[in-house]
Amino acid sequence: QLRDNTVIVVFGASGDLAKKKTYPALFGLYRNGYLPRDVHIVGYARTKMDDKEYQKRTTAYIKNPNDDPEIAAKIEEFKKISTYVSGGYEDSPSFQNLAKHLQSIEKNYPSRETNRLFYLALPPSVFVPVATHTKECCYSSMGINRIIVEKPFGKDLDSCRELLSSLKQSWKEEETYRIDHYLGKEMVKNLLVLRFANVAMGAAWDKNSISNVQISFKEPFGTQGRGGYFDEFGIIRDVLQNHLLQVLSILTMERPVSFSSEDIRDEKVKVLRAIPPITKEDVLLGQYVAGNNEPGYLDDDTVPKDSVCPTFAATVLRINNERWEGVPFILKAGKALNEAKVEIRMQFKDVTQGIFKDISRNELVIRIQPSEAVYLKLNSKTPGYSFRAIPTEMDLTYKRRFTDTKIPEAYEALILDALKGDHSNFVRDDELDVAWKIFTPILHWIDGRAGPRPRPSPYPYGSRGPKELDSFIEKQGYKRPEAD
Ligand code: BG6
Repeated sequence: QLRDNTVIVVFGASGDLAKKKTYPALFGLYRNGYLPRDVHIVGYARTKMDDKEYQKRTTAYIKNPNDDPEIAAKIEEFKKISTYVSGGYEDSPSFQNLAKHLQSIEKNYPSRETNRLFYLALPPSVFVPVATHTKECCYSSMGINRIIVEKPFGKDLDSCRELLSSLKQSWKEEETYRIDHYLGKEMVKNLLVLRFANVAMGAAWDKNSISNVQISFKEPFGTQGRGGYFDEFGIIRDVLQNHLLQVLSILTMERPVSFSSEDIRDEKVKVLRAIPPITKEDVLLGQYVAGNNEPGYLDDDTVPKDSVCPTFAATVLRINNERWEGVPFILKAGKALNEAKVEIRMQFKDVTQGIFKDISRNELVIRIQPSEAVYLKLNSKTPGYSFRAIPTEMDLTYKRRFTDTKIPEAYEALILDALKGDHSNFVRDDELDVAWKIFTPILHWIDGRAGPRPRPSPYPYGSRGPKELDSFIEKQGYKRPEAD
């Protein structure tokens, strides 16, 4: 249920995340009538500016390509419910000042109930002071309080545990919403339905039918000025350990007892616990170099010249349970590749030989983005007099099937969930713990804690990745389809 009399506070309001994701998502919800009645949005950051300047900045990324007057009018309305407070992140008086601002908005509310949602679009160095001061100075005693935080949640198991326990000093687990925005993506949410509402899918979802699974993330651009952040974290912490592992857990978990957030997350944790830590034999690292008229990673001024930080990684995970034993799960992600694509590719085992030879394997492809689609590669008889089998596709492309449906942006869906108090698509503390257990040993090896740092393989900007990639995947049993 949405609560009337809600103020949403966006910390880090002048930062990149807020401008590019949080505000466009808030506007998307506002425009479609999904925000609570009488909602107010308060931006907070260190930068000094007045409300007008703040409103201009935060609406700059809201898209209205065709100058639609209806959208333009909504943007003007949206500005009217947005105000700004500037202040530090580490001193109590700044937060007392924010509290006064909140009270001045809330005194006009029709009832005394006041609900507050705090969104931390901030660098991790200030998570704890902001969460602590917010609790001390800005916590509403007359309603519901919630806090949204976003990765990075530490850099390894120990630092994550430390961060979580510091945050828990002030905010209870049920008040905390940890965003992994992949959980808000339409096709990721569809996994539960695809798997558990279809007998045909459920029947094939195990080691008896599946040979290997790939979950891939490809981006066609490099670090683009984010090199400072990226170099400290690398692609595994940026994408694999969170986004791709979340997808893996939903893809492989057992059927939850209900759709309640706790039942779903219990199953996710259970399957993650069956995954042993990745070993260095099961990792391929890459770093992009100049190519296709684009600069290499080391050409980014914000990156140290001798950096060995991986911008590409492929890892093999195994799930030691009855359903999945022996099936390799290849998680791979890279920046500056040849295309933008995130997909799951489940390759089936070979068909019984005998009457058919050299026939392509079935593959189920679930494309998360762009252009959501689910398609199954099936062999079919060539129509006509021949009895030859050819690979074909059963294709559910969303654009063709759901022509009138607007697919919400991940951040819109997640902010709405947080406003409603639904935790299903947020990350629970124990999920983070198991996720870090799987990746920490390999990350320590990459960080050079166990000897010299491994050197990533170079790959040109705009290519498919390091040249060793194909053999790395084929070693896990992946067979390139005949038609590829
Ligand atoms: C973020 C990463 O979490 O996800 C970025 O920090 C990455 O490096 C982004 O570009 C990808 O998100 P999306 O929604 O564009 O696939």
